[in-house]
Amino acid sequence: MADNPHLADDLRRVLIDEDAIAKRVDELAAEINEKYKDAEEPLILVGVLKGSFIFLADLSRRLTIPHIVDFIAISSYGQKGNQRGEVRLLMDTRENLSGHDVLIVEDILDSGSTLSYLIRTFKARTSKSVATAVFLDKPARHVVDIDIQFKGFEIPDVWVVGYGLDYKERHRTLPYIAEMIPEN
Ligand code: IMP
Ligand code: MG
Repeated sequence: MADNPHLADDLRRVLIDEDAIAKRVDELAAEINEKYKDAEEPLILVGVLKGSFIFLADLSRRLTIPHIVDFIAISSYGQKGNQRGEVRLLMDTRENLSGHDVLIVEDILDSGSTLSYLIRTFKARTSKSVATAVFLDKPARHVVDIDIQFKGFEIPDVWVVGYGLDYKERHRTLPYIAEMIPEN
């Protein structure tokens, strides 16, 4: 990175800088272009709100294959203390997913509850195929086994913000991924 950005007081360090993000998103888009190049129907990208919106915007603008952008909103419970994360659909897709290749676009894989719920839900809708693109992965936190086809970066078990990810709605639009200093 050319310059060290001025870090907010509640941030410890930059984990992934802007250049590294751009390079990795280029690579992921190239992999996705290649994988779906012969598809007969447009790929449907389903972004999980809110955290994925920046990753999805960057990724979709690098795709050269025909694709449709869509979103869902979910809420998850029991992320703290309770290991059994419970997930609820708050807003469904606009598109009918049936017969389409679906790519779920998620900001971060933590316990895996969110993605396992979404994969199950979309497969049940007879989507032609269901794959996942996840920008960040915290392997130390997995409770459910999830097969990720496109993964940005693995990170340690720390709370991160930026590039769509927030802490209580803070720091979501930082152009880099930074580690938070935990609140006490
Ligand atoms: P999972 O269902 O436990 O995999 O949770 C995934 C969701 O938790 C993500 O979509 C994020 O919304 C949130 N999350 C988990 N870790 C972080 C983090 O370090 N920063 C911001 N959000 C996070
Ligand atoms: Mg999320």
